[in-house]
Amino acid sequence: MATRNVLCFFIVVVLLATSVVTTTGRKLSATYYHSKCPKVSAIVRDGVAKAIKKETRMGASLLRLHFHDCFVNGCDASILLDDTPNFVGEKTAGPNNNSVRGFEVIDHIKAKLEKACPKVVSCADIVALAARDSVHYLGGPSWKVRLGRRDSTTANRSLANIIIPPFTSNVSALITSFAAQGLSVRNMVALSGSHTVGLARCSSFRGRIYNDSNIDASFAHKLQMKCPKSGNDSVLQRLDIQTPTFFDNSYYKKLLQKKGLLHSDQELFNGSSVDSLVKKYARDTAAFFHDFARAMIKMSEIKPLTGSNGEIRKNCRKMN
Ligand code: HEM
Ligand SMILES: *[C@@H]1O[C@H](CO)[C@@H](O)[C@H](O)[C@H]1NC(C)=O
Ligand SMILES: *[C@@H]1O[C@H](CO)[C@@H](O)[C@H](O)[C@H]1NC(C)=O
Ligand SMILES: *[C@@H]1O[C@H](CO)[C@@H](O)[C@H](O)[C@H]1NC(C)=O
Ligand SMILES: *[C@@H]1O[C@H](CO)[C@@H](O)[C@H](O)[C@H]1NC(C)=O
Ligand SMILES: *[C@@H]1O[C@H](CO)[C@@H](O)[C@H](O)[C@H]1NC(C)=O
Ligand SMILES: *[C@@H]1O[C@H](CO)[C@@H](O)[C@H](O)[C@H]1NC(C)=O
Repeated sequence: MATRNVLCFFIVVVLLATSVVTTTGRKLSATYYHSKCPKVSAIVRDGVAKAIKKETRMGASLLRLHFHDCFVNGCDASILLDDTPNFVGEKTAGPNNNSVRGFEVIDHIKAKLEKACPKVVSCADIVALAARDSVHYLGGPSWKVRLGRRDSTTANRSLANIIIPPFTSNVSALITSFAAQGLSVRNMVALSGSHTVGLARCSSFRGRIYNDSNIDASFAHKLQMKCPKSGNDSVLQRLDIQTPTFFDNSYYKKLLQKKGLLHSDQELFNGSSVDSLVKKYARDTAAFFHDFARAMIKMSEIKPLTGSNGEIRKNCRKMN
């Protein structure tokens, strides 16, 4: 009797596990394009490398593009859809407008892929691969991207406005925001390490340099020289003042010195229980890279469209 109960228990667990698995990213596969489009990895890797050689910041921009795509109804390339007179996309949502970049790079890669294997490779998969290749190109870790995402036929600007965490967030809001996407506290702290590359506008860190008390005084002072109390909203500043084009752990080291650029960055080292993770990543690059790669895989598998859902767009900017 006892054995049978145990057996039933295992069957239930297996069934539960299987259904969880199918509603998340497990329909994706690392070999998805092996026969359909064997050149996909090489074409994306090439396109990313060329773009970063032309402009180093592009690596950071492509990484952020993937994040802002995945948080709004899953990694479905919804962020790439252009606004038209009768369609409102996500590009003009608050966190994206005049800020998210990399669309031309994706277009360029997509055009190459349409030549090599027409109507086979989704824009959502291109964005996931481009984020991975960018991090690797800039000196960060690499990981296997499972593929087979399909592209949305919808976008939701109001959802983008509420679901992408703002830079004014406190640590509990950040935890809640990532938890809503199935991402753990550890995932959140590791993914925030993305701010080891790239730039932010004055309008994104003004509140921090004039109003926060948990900021290094001379750091704040230098930034105030460049970012006035009003005006010059789009003056850019490095998110990681030390090595903005190199994917390393210096973002966390700077947090220990109260030199996080965004309010939300410094919230990760401001007396809460996540302080210990920041300290760990600041002293252990391998631990950061390991946790970052795992978290990226998890983020890039948020609610993918698979099977007959969605479509394979011909042009990433509009539905077919
Ligand atoms: C934890 C919550 C997060 C907040 C509040 C946040 C907020 C921001 C803000 C305000 C900027 C500057 C935008 C501008 O001024 O134009 C930025 C830039 C950036 N973010 Fe985040 N971010 C978060 C998490 C992430 C994650 C999870 C990733 C990637 C996985 C990421 C990747 C980036 C990158 C690479 C840049 C620089 C982009 C560039 O230079 O083009 N961020 N972020
Ligand atoms: C996006 O930015 C442009 C240019 O700054 C501005 O004119 C427009 O109103 C913004 N769109 C939204 C929806 O806020
Ligand atoms: C877009 O997101 C908002 C906010 O969650 C929601 O109320 C609305 O129903 C969504 N619109 C569509 C078309 O799904
Ligand atoms: C954090 O931010 C949330 C949302 O803005 C707010 O409701 C909450 O009171 C804040 N928590 C703390 C500890 O400040
Ligand atoms: C700083 O805080 C004050 C008082 O809350 C507020 O009025 C002001 O707009 C804030 N400044 C910035 C740059 O966020
Ligand atoms: C976090 O930083 C804010 C802003 O500087 C400060 O007022 C607050 O006391 C800090 N919280 C903790 C828990 O240290
Ligand atoms: C705004 O930026 C310009 C160019 O960088 C600079 O010359 C000007 O002094 C800045 N304005 C303020 C108020 O800081």
